[in-house]
Amino acid sequence: MDKNKIYVFDTTLRDGEQSPGCSMNTEEKIRVALQLEKLGVDIIEAGFAAASPGDFDAVSRIAEVVKNSSICSLSRAIENDIKQAGLAVQNAPKHRIHTFIATSPIHMKYKLKMSEDEVIKRAVRAVEYAKTFVDDVEFSLEDAGRSEIPFMKEVMDAVISAGATTINLPDTVGYRLPSELGAMVKELSDFAGDRAIISVHNHNDLGLATANTLASVVNGARQIEVTINGLGERAGNSALEEAVMAIKTRGDAFGGLYTDINTPEIYPTSRLVATITGVEPQQNKAIVGKNAFSHESGIHQDGVLKHQETYEIMKPEDVGVFKDSTLILGKHSGRAAFRDKIKQLGFDKVSDEELNATFEKFKVLADKKKDITDDDVRMLITDEALNSDKTYDLLGLQISDCSNGMPMAAVTIKYKDEIIQDANIGDGTMDAIFKTIDRLTGYDGQLKDYKVLSVTEGKDALAKVTARVSFDEASPEFVGHGLSIDTMMATAKAYLGAVNSYLSQKERLSKKTEHQV
Ligand code: KIV
Ligand code: ZN
Repeated sequence: MDKNKIYVFDTTLRDGEQSPGCSMNTEEKIRVALQLEKLGVDIIEAGFAAASPGDFDAVSRIAEVVKNSSICSLSRAIENDIKQAGLAVQNAPKHRIHTFIATSPIHMKYKLKMSEDEVIKRAVRAVEYAKTFVDDVEFSLEDAGRSEIPFMKEVMDAVISAGATTINLPDTVGYRLPSELGAMVKELSDFAGDRAIISVHNHNDLGLATANTLASVVNGARQIEVTINGLGERAGNSALEEAVMAIKTRGDAFGGLYTDINTPEIYPTSRLVATITGVEPQQNKAIVGKNAFSHESGIHQDGVLKHQETYEIMKPEDVGVFKDSTLILGKHSGRAAFRDKIKQLGFDKVSDEELNATFEKFKVLADKKKDITDDDVRMLITDEALNSDKTYDLLGLQISDCSNGMPMAAVTIKYKDEIIQDANIGDGTMDAIFKTIDRLTGYDGQLKDYKVLSVTEGKDALAKVTARVSFDEASPEFVGHGLSIDTMMATAKAYLGAVNSYLSQKERLSKKTEHQV
């Protein structure tokens, strides 16, 4: 094993998905997983297979398509969880089971109501059982940040003897300071020696997640658990882009440590996750925020023009940010130039069908919008991919003047080979649109969240709408995406996208009879 390599374990699809409003459907998770593979992530935690049939389905489908990263499922230290995790990852060329139990006094006393001996026994049984499915087993001492070191050593000895190959020390509640966590990691990684890889998983409750991750690698951790855009429970997890770029940019301070992350894929990955979840990183977010590489003050602009390094410690291109994003394509540009452009933007696996459909949308847009930017094209292509399932396809929308107090929407939809139409009034224009779509599809959606963003500046900017809709108490929320120069069209598309996503999940799960949890 190379002692200087830091293994990157991405948990965007598990801990990240636990962030409020960040749930993704299976198709979306597959897209993110393939992008994480392209990014060079070593291990992808694809979900918590035993949580629901939908989660099992997502983990197992990711296991079938990802070839280069190891696919991992989380499981509590419970037999059925471990079995579901083992079955879900079995088809991946490289796979891992990640099992955990809490080791802090507060968790053992109040949550688990278990003695130290019982915790150790349960941990050992879990690792031994996981080993019957896979060779690569990770064990987490949940709430390690508040656990006692002598007890953690006992647990580590026991689970390593049972076959655990990676020991994860999560700061579950984001409580530790970098100096404290660094000292704990040093003691425990010296204790583990060559017997296991020490991993860290830091939450950001005090804004210290990345600092804690970096303090840990300096002190012997060789796996970091991170998420794209820092998504995760509560205040989130340590952000992949921050930890990776700190190690790369400050190589001098990290004495030869490195990751295998293909850093120019960082920004495209961040954009994909933000587009799918509808959760944008804050503008001033390190590395991937909108302002991360923009200089407002004249003094800074002047400095950067004279010599880039006066005010920039990283090259934007190194994380996949290309400053000049104005596309020199217009309404007379042909398909070949368009194909070149999307390749240049990193979309190298676009099918001919997707390319043709996006090119048609590009032509329509070019007729209406003066300057088309890289962001517009990126968004058009992502939107086509996210809306590939078109059980219901929006063909037309007409809305009445709402100033007379009676907003009305008339909607035309293609369903299979039929064209269906209806109209309804509502409390507002959006309400009228949703009610009409509900009547046309026969599904009563509850809008849980709605976001509209403009893709670029200018009055003619594309509107990108994300709608989060629930259709029944038992199933999760479904996300729909809509893109149009007209906000109401984008709204109708997003709502209909959520219906399509709900239907395809329902259909797939009803076909699956094996491995139900
Ligand atoms: O924060 C945490 O402790 C976790 C574990 C399940 C690894 O997410
Ligand atoms: Zn966590």
